[in-house]
Amino acid sequence: MKRLGRALLIVLGIVVLFLCGGLAYLFLAFPKVGPAREMAVDATPGRIERGRYLANHVTVCVDCHSKRDWRYYSGPVVPGTEGQGGERFGHELGFPGEIFSANITPARLTEWTDGEIARAITEGVSRDSRAFFPVMPYPSYASLCEEDLASIVAFVRTIPPIPNEVPPTKLDFPLNFIVRTIPKPATPGPCPDTADPQAYGKYLTTVGGCGDCHTPQINHKPAPGMEFAGGFEFPVPGGVVRSANITPETETGIGSWNLGAFIARFRGVSPEKVRAMELEAGDMNTVMPWSMYAGMTDQDLGAIFAYLRTIPPVKNKVNPFTKAS
Ligand code: HEC
Ligand code: HEC
Repeated sequence: MKRLGRALLIVLGIVVLFLCGGLAYLFLAFPKVGPAREMAVDATPGRIERGRYLANHVTVCVDCHSKRDWRYYSGPVVPGTEGQGGERFGHELGFPGEIFSANITPARLTEWTDGEIARAITEGVSRDSRAFFPVMPYPSYASLCEEDLASIVAFVRTIPPIPNEVPPTKLDFPLNFIVRTIPKPATPGPCPDTADPQAYGKYLTTVGGCGDCHTPQINHKPAPGMEFAGGFEFPVPGGVVRSANITPETETGIGSWNLGAFIARFRGVSPEKVRAMELEAGDMNTVMPWSMYAGMTDQDLGAIFAYLRTIPPVKNKVNPFTKAS
């Protein structure tokens, strides 16, 4: 009996040692990103304008980092709250904890260097190296090209400061540990040629985060062979909304759409148009930030459409809205 007890103690000791070692490793070795780059962005008017356009209509930073008005379709931003943060992504929406979007106005970011802001965007760590939960789509922003990244940094600095205190993000176990392994170093490259609609379209589709919602996931990883095939489920008040199949499959995807129909679908949901039509009790809302993307130029929507035309068609019938019974 005594011997058994001692053996058990030794085994337990080893297990505890391993656990502590593992935890120490997780804390010392992760997040695996380097120091923020030296990067002094020259905030030219051109860069600020490009950054404003991207942050509002393509990478839609302003969508998550502002207050949203869910009385209207696709939750347009409440004017005057741009960049103040505090949007909550909680259990009721299917998230593993309580995640709050940060205040990205100069009220919070003045002390940050340009390199620290750029690192937060593309690598997903805070100034003090805290790893973000990837609802902040840094894995997609890792593809931002150098000039666009600089433009977004330049623009973020011009947002009027709002002193809004945001509660700290709290992730459930074991994600509070695992999250440290997600950030990866990113090296921004040259920007794609805008005259090549497919290459430029692929770029916009990536940094616009379309695949983040339109590719269904298995165990938090994109389901193989299902790129852009839709069916990703989002619990929303009143039911479940699922992303659409946007592959060029003719029956279940958007294969029968032409460019005009594609652009018109976005123009029809501009902030002015959605605000003119309050949702009625029982109407379901969508998580797709239509009213932000609606401001994309014809050229950029055209490039996205051209790229979506080139991806493999996938037959996958999706019923976008299911009301809770
Ligand atoms: C889909 C929603 C979403 C989008 C889009 C988004 N963010 Fe975030 N962002 C978040 C959330 C949520 C956090 C906090 C994550 C956490 O606490 O783990 C965050 C954190 C940040 C932080 C960290 C600030 C701090 O105080 O630590 C910065 C900076 C930031 N985002 C900038 C941006 C920029 C710039 C863009 C556009 C290029 C962007 N975000 C797009 C949701 C988003
Ligand atoms: C936050 C998640 C999210 C993001 C990001 C997102 N979508 Fe969607 N999208 C959805 C959902 C959910 C639907 C289905 C409900 C609806 O129509 O709003 C949808 C519907 C669509 C439709 C309508 C298809 C149809 O059959 O009516 C198109 C087209 C589309 N998305 C294209 C895009 C493109 C292009 C991007 C990137 C620029 C994108 N989406 C980004 C969630 C998203």
